[in-house]
Amino acid sequence: MDPQATNSTLDNPLREGLSLERLPSPCAMVIFGASGDLTRRKLMPALYDLALEGLLPPGFSVVGVARSEKSNDEFREEVRESIRQNARRTPIDEGLLRTFEEGISYVAGDFSSPDAYARISEELDRLDRERNTSGNRVYYLATPPSAYAEIACKLSEQGLVQPIEDESWTRLIVEKPFGNDYDSARELNQTLLQYFSEDQIYRIDHYLGKETVQNMLAFRFANGIFEPLWNRTFIDHVQITVAESIGIENRGGYYDQAGALRDMVQNHMLQLLSLVSMEPPPAFDADSVHDEKVKALRSIRPIQPEEVDYYTVRGQYSEGWVMGQPYPGYRDEARVDPASTTETYVALKLFIDNWRWAGVPFYLRTGKHLPRRVSEISIQFHKAPHPPFAENVTQSLEPNVLAIRIQPDEGITLKTTAKVPGPSMRLRSVNMGFLYGTSFLVESPDAYERLLLDCMLGDSTLFPRRDGIEASWEPITQILRGWEATGVENLPAYSAGTWGPEEADSFMERDGRQWRQP
Ligand SMILES: NC(=O)c1ccc[n+]([C@@H]2O[C@H](COP(=O)([O-])OP(=O)(O)OC[C@H]3O[C@@H](n4cnc5c(N)ncnc54)[C@H](OP(=O)(O)O)[C@@H]3O)[C@@H](O)[C@H]2O)c1
Repeated sequence: MDPQATNSTLDNPLREGLSLERLPSPCAMVIFGASGDLTRRKLMPALYDLALEGLLPPGFSVVGVARSEKSNDEFREEVRESIRQNARRTPIDEGLLRTFEEGISYVAGDFSSPDAYARISEELDRLDRERNTSGNRVYYLATPPSAYAEIACKLSEQGLVQPIEDESWTRLIVEKPFGNDYDSARELNQTLLQYFSEDQIYRIDHYLGKETVQNMLAFRFANGIFEPLWNRTFIDHVQITVAESIGIENRGGYYDQAGALRDMVQNHMLQLLSLVSMEPPPAFDADSVHDEKVKALRSIRPIQPEEVDYYTVRGQYSEGWVMGQPYPGYRDEARVDPASTTETYVALKLFIDNWRWAGVPFYLRTGKHLPRRVSEISIQFHKAPHPPFAENVTQSLEPNVLAIRIQPDEGITLKTTAKVPGPSMRLRSVNMGFLYGTSFLVESPDAYERLLLDCMLGDSTLFPRRDGIEASWEPITQILRGWEATGVENLPAYSAGTWGPEEADSFMERDGRQWRQP
């Protein structure tokens, strides 16, 4: 291990405890799709940041695999550049970067070519001999989804997958999207399970690596005061907002096939919904947490095709301004069908049919080119049943809202009502808040750091299990079928830089509610 990485660990007693407790055994990581955007922007910087924290095992090595021909040195240069541009912790520790780089190599080859796997195998053997990686491997599929099944099959055919009973371990990380509907997700699960066991498969949803998302479990289950209120008796409704200020960037080809429901709701938003609504798990281990999340997902009431227009709103952005910049409409974006009816905004009303949540609506909304990037869960409580104040005072009383901010400004605020100082009884809403940034003086790791580390440690708590993926595709596939059956005559438009189509506001007003402005 690089001495400088160890120094940064020793500087901080909190980190020291963490690294002793959570240091993975030696291993090599093979990244399929090593010249891609994800590797460049997220994976390599996250690995470097882990090295800086002293959380990578001794001899940790990366083998990049992609089609383009390049030498080890050329690949290392690309990695260096990607770390310089995207690492969380700056300035870059050049000494650590040089040591980190020594463990990086590159294999050029097509995913369909058996030769490529023979070369990967040779490279892994070399790493076992020279860097003591002990036969332990993580395979990361940072590739187009169409390649997932083929790579899993070829790895197995070439003898690169150790059986689970072996002393050394093999793990597979699969990126999103995991399928594009219930049937394809199920088929992909079945295919991967021919070559890997469930305990070897890590389906990534980077939202689960975010500190605030994990904090939801701590908040709900490590405090005595919230859980008794966490049900239909006290909660009026729940809102989950994942707003993006960016558009589709250069992902037109993918996005036009996917749309907001598949891209954001099936994975990130239903994961958030399951964490908010699940029952307390008996223990904080992967299976106990997954069991409860899956139960919550399975309790989502299916939306029948004839109800789809009542429970969902779709929208597509037209040209407009976001944060002072002009943007074209969705249909004018590159690689988007000029007559596209793909939704870039979706709002849903879901019910969870179980004892705890009967009758409590969960409103979800997400969109591209909204005014701000913000992800938030807000729990809105019932109004006080009988405030003993004059009518003119109580008219403006707002209900209590617990807002869990996932990004940015991570934290939790509780909106309560207080008396305005002065001679008369005037009331106003005030916020009690906890901000990560000010309460803890350590910076939160990036989600990919946490998830890569967990995979190396064999901890799958933050990775959706097979049944969780399928359970989240079920209600989404129902909605997609409903949309297909009803067609889209007039897809509502919203100007880029606004909070979605007007129809989304009327959707809430119909229920006597409104979207919370984060
Ligand atoms: N980018 C993100 O922020 C992001 C976020 C969430 C999820 N994801 C998911 O992560 C995966 C990768 O995304 P990306 O944006 O990094 O994609 P990308 O930029 O298009 O990169 C794809 C990579 O796969 C390689 N590749 C493709 N076909 C190949 C083949 N037949 N043989 C060998 N190599 C091949 C490419 O190599 P060459 O360049 O040599 O052709 C490239 O390295 C996708 O599933 C995506 O949905 C990405």
